[in-house]
Amino acid sequence: MKVAIIGTGYVGLPTGIGLSELGNQVVCIDKIEEKIASLQKGIATIYEDGMEDLFQRNLASGRLSFTTDMKAGVSGADVVMIAVGTPPHPVTKEADLKYIRAAAEELAQYLDGYTVVATKSTVPVGTGDDVEAIIRRVNPEADCDVVSLPEFLREGFAVHDFFNPDRIVIGANTEKAKNVLLELYRPFAGKTEFLLVSRKSSETIKYASNAFLAMKIHYINEMADFCEKAGADIREVAKGMGLDSRIGGKFLNPGPGYGGSCFPKDTNAMAQMGKKYGAHLSLIETTIAQNDARKVQMAQRVTEMTGGKPDVRIAVLGLAFKGGTDDCRDSPAMQILQEILKEHSNVCVYDPKAMDNAKTMLGTAVDYAANAEQACEKADIAVILTEWEEFKQLDLAKLRLIMNKPLILDLRNMLDASAVRENGFVYSCIGKR
Ligand code: UDX
Repeated sequence: MKVAIIGTGYVGLPTGIGLSELGNQVVCIDKIEEKIASLQKGIATIYEDGMEDLFQRNLASGRLSFTTDMKAGVSGADVVMIAVGTPPHPVTKEADLKYIRAAAEELAQYLDGYTVVATKSTVPVGTGDDVEAIIRRVNPEADCDVVSLPEFLREGFAVHDFFNPDRIVIGANTEKAKNVLLELYRPFAGKTEFLLVSRKSSETIKYASNAFLAMKIHYINEMADFCEKAGADIREVAKGMGLDSRIGGKFLNPGPGYGGSCFPKDTNAMAQMGKKYGAHLSLIETTIAQNDARKVQMAQRVTEMTGGKPDVRIAVLGLAFKGGTDDCRDSPAMQILQEILKEHSNVCVYDPKAMDNAKTMLGTAVDYAANAEQACEKADIAVILTEWEEFKQLDLAKLRLIMNKPLILDLRNMLDASAVRENGFVYSCIGKR
């Protein structure tokens, strides 16, 4: 089928590449000329594990192309996916739909023949109605159905998640639209669950799922605080909980609080929707408030462990919002670092992939190291803030020799407590006294 995807970001690009790999003719459209020029030259604008080969192969085969020309992309398409950003409004925190509306205004002009217009971006419940109204106003003759087609891709696993979805949710209000999308996703038939629901249910599923995952993370973080006070071990508690199939073991890793470009945005948008519809979402509101407060609490642990001396040398390991990505947007690590910098000025940072992004945010406020060991040289404390697998392999004996003080604060429980202590460190982690 011919698919047009509007927006070539963390959602649009992996989705476009995935659909072209499945044999569709895919045109990815973006307003940013530099981005399109880079993609046309075969230079990906985001990093995703396993994406490069698919990108090059489908670009070379001609199944995948990129343009800034909405008309060229949209006309003749069987499906047009809107995958543009829905950033939080700076004040109200509601999802700002200006890019969605602009895309709908523009694409409406070029619809010819029956077309399914799908919102792939995470959009507030009822956005499909808005998009439908815009298209009807701009092009009353347009023969199209507007559907909700939410994505559930995790950053760093977008290619894996595209080809291995837990479910494909199709929010369509007509049989015709449903059939077009069942045809598009036919390669997944028999391998995953197809959920055909109303458009509003589909829009709600996305937010309800993300908000629940964020709440699950907050829950285990709160249990970790309880364990520290009660003398239990959160690693053992999380394992015991996770063995209950109704709970599941995933997303029970305690840490400094969740971050990234989705959970903070989606939980705030969901809370605002609750207010808008008069359905108070108290659990989500509490999750947001407590998760924000946790970043400050985590920074206070650093100050407590270093006796509050402003000039102690602090090594910060990890800046990305999670391991496996270079993305620092709404990163817990960066938020905690900002708190640390309010009390301390002698900080050295390292992250396996996020250094460039971090430098644009931190400037000269910190020193930058080429690796974890260099960051720890002469440090009075090492603080692990992001769950990078490589931090599990830290050479503790060497760190003991090069650090000024044997202090490790592990806010991601990456290290084995007994091994750290055997190497002469004072070790503090999450969820264990
Ligand atoms: C999330 C959802 O997982 C995905 O389904 C949705 O499509 C987009 O939003 P993402 O934001 O890429 O994906 O990251 P995710 O892996 O969910 O992690 C989000 C945050 O939670 C990170 O800061 C991570 O460190 C943290 N986290 C995750 C925990 O603290 N503990 C966990 O057990 C899991």
